[in-house]
Amino acid sequence: MLTIVRYPDPVLTTPAKPVTDFGPRLAQLVEEMFLTMYQSKGVGLAAPQVGISQRIYVVNCGKEQPPETELALINPVVVSVEGEQCGDEGCLSFPGIFVQKKRPKTVTMRAQDVHGKWFEVTGEGLLARAFLHELEHLDGKVFLEDIEPAEFVKVRKDIDNLRRAYKERTRPKERVVS
Ligand code: CO
Repeated sequence: MLTIVRYPDPVLTTPAKPVTDFGPRLAQLVEEMFLTMYQSKGVGLAAPQVGISQRIYVVNCGKEQPPETELALINPVVVSVEGEQCGDEGCLSFPGIFVQKKRPKTVTMRAQDVHGKWFEVTGEGLLARAFLHELEHLDGKVFLEDIEPAEFVKVRKDIDNLRRAYKERTRPKERVVS
């Protein structure tokens, strides 16, 4: 199991580097990312969320955990977007925080698979939402950046709590001198 980093860990606001090595270690990482995502009951997970600043994300918007609906996108780019949807959106790096967010309804992505082969995939609804949410992680953006001010007000306290918890975790241990 990989550890999911939480906001405001700086890896979440750092643009990730393109993947150039398509060796067995990449396939292994992707496998571990799927397992970590399932364990956390998420539908998408980007490599920066497990502390790895590379352009990789996994999604699975199937009902159970069927491998047929698993998608790993390496070095993904948007090909086209269409329509509009508004719905609740959350993030494993912001546990318990959900906001209403507008997104395109249909999104087509182009990406490489774990072997480096390019492919195109189109997602609608939740999958389209996940494609773009995860892509933003690779660009060092978080999903709260461009929400309506009224939505932000609703979660401000929760975000402050996350910031406080992060500070606690990363505070250097006081040295005891005797
Ligand atoms: Co996220």
